[in-house]
Amino acid sequence: MRYEVDFLIIGSGIAGLSFALKVAPYGKVCILSKGEASEGSTRYAQGGIAAVLYDSDSFDKHIQDTLVAGDGICDREVVEMTIREAPDRIRELVQYGVNFDKSNAGDRFDLHREGGHSEFRILHHKDNTGEEIERGLLEAIRNHPNIELKENQFAIDIITQHHLGQRVTKHTPNIECYGAYALDCSTNVIDTYLAKVTLLATGGMGNVYTTTTTPIISTGDGVAMVHRARGVLKDLEFMQFHPTSLYNPAEKPAFLITEAMRGAGAVLKDYHGNEFMQKYDSRLSLAPRDIVARAIDNEMKIAGVDHLYLDARGIGKEELINGFPNIYAKCLELGIKIDKDMIPIRPAAHYQCGGIKVDRNGESSIHHLYAAGECSCTGLHGGNRLASNSLLEAVVYAHNAAQSAIEQVKTIDFCHQVPDWNADGMVLNEEMVLITQTKRELQELMWNYVGIVRSDLRLQRAFDRLNLIYRETEDLYNRSVLTEELCELRNLIACAYLIIKFARARRENVGLHYSIDLLKEQSNH
Ligand code: FAD
Ligand code: SIN
Repeated sequence: MRYEVDFLIIGSGIAGLSFALKVAPYGKVCILSKGEASEGSTRYAQGGIAAVLYDSDSFDKHIQDTLVAGDGICDREVVEMTIREAPDRIRELVQYGVNFDKSNAGDRFDLHREGGHSEFRILHHKDNTGEEIERGLLEAIRNHPNIELKENQFAIDIITQHHLGQRVTKHTPNIECYGAYALDCSTNVIDTYLAKVTLLATGGMGNVYTTTTTPIISTGDGVAMVHRARGVLKDLEFMQFHPTSLYNPAEKPAFLITEAMRGAGAVLKDYHGNEFMQKYDSRLSLAPRDIVARAIDNEMKIAGVDHLYLDARGIGKEELINGFPNIYAKCLELGIKIDKDMIPIRPAAHYQCGGIKVDRNGESSIHHLYAAGECSCTGLHGGNRLASNSLLEAVVYAHNAAQSAIEQVKTIDFCHQVPDWNADGMVLNEEMVLITQTKRELQELMWNYVGIVRSDLRLQRAFDRLNLIYRETEDLYNRSVLTEELCELRNLIACAYLIIKFARARRENVGLHYSIDLLKEQSNH
């Protein structure tokens, strides 16, 4: 089938839905979601969304905390713009119908605190803020006559001059996006979506790693598409590992224990129940995430164990049940009474700070292609994202991108020369087992060699192993009828390649990129 829409949005998390609501009055909007509309990282966000709303806090403090967490390489102008815009965007979320918890008196929002924040400034809805945001936005979308939301539609590639038969390289000036090809997973037909403006809002790539808090849909599809289309990417070496995912090896994705629990008084303890963060940072359990995750990794390696503990017993049963009802219930299911027992935790891949490079309007290096949310790289996070700044970044950039796209759309025509997808290929019976096995191999090699602590040798080894996996998978791809699983595997391989490539190019330890060789070099100087 061929479709024509003014605004094509790939992704139905906070970034895609916020953008849709803004552009809908100006044209026909189509949102593609590869699974159920609500499935994405947004829905799993626990802690909340950071914003300065009251005089007890200040923009300057939030800006400073963001710059410090980012380890000196954030784009200062972007940080200032994002943080100053936050109150307006929060008000809009509330207008769309999102509920944030209020204080007992009901006149103010109840604010939490997380690692790296000098103040209580995290708006939240219990410990399931993302679910509430996703609910509110989806309800607003469903009532809008100009917006069509299509589930189980897997975007394969964005369409550029390459699909018109022209040679496109990194050096081609003026690469343009004409829409996207998408696999309708219910019919197995590949449809052509022609669009005047396309937004990638495809989320993160946590599934490059064995242990991740991100849902299975987080396979870096948007980044891989832009890589194939020869667009500009940035900062992909900065994969953020969340310090405290619940240690329950059989469970995928790993269940998160929100940092807000540390903000409320929970402390990290080693395998023997002793506090250890004093050895690493004066901010103890509330140091920025890169520092805490590395400290936990180090303590686990010293003791030769696969998890440590978070001790939340000091918070008190009532506050635990009222403030963290989902975590309380989840742990209880596993026989852990968090008011009496320590919670077993370990780090897990959580958030990709880098992505598709965008300007302050959310526009990528490819004309008529915008990106927002976790798949994008705005410069806000630098080397390490400050907790609860990503939902904020998504709404701020969805807004900016929408303002720019509304202007642009008036001047763009559909590119009718775009051909339909050539769907030739064979159905290979052994494909599924090969895909599952290869994905596991890929995740293990990234976990073992390109994780929290890196070295030149580990990166080289990862690169060599990945090369083999890449060649085998390309061969399979070229012979097979496309499936979602095969496309996702290919995208994960592209993302793994990019993380390794960016990591090898970064010759300093900064933020989340930490190599023992660079440490030696730095201490020799
Ligand atoms: P997502 O919400 O991940 O949505 C991606 C969308 O893209 C989905 O609809 C998916 O179907 C679609 N998609 C992807 N690929 C394709 C494709 N090929 N074709 C079609 N559709 C596609 N951040 C905070 O600021 N505060 C928090 O408290 C917080 N807690 C978190 C807790 C957890 C467990 C996790 C995993 C993350 C958390 N984060 C938090 C990070 C934050 O939730 C995410 O960065 C943010 O929600 C990403 O939103 P998004 O709209 O970019 O993508
Ligand atoms: C958390 O609740 O700890 C996650 C917050 C975030 O990733 O921003």
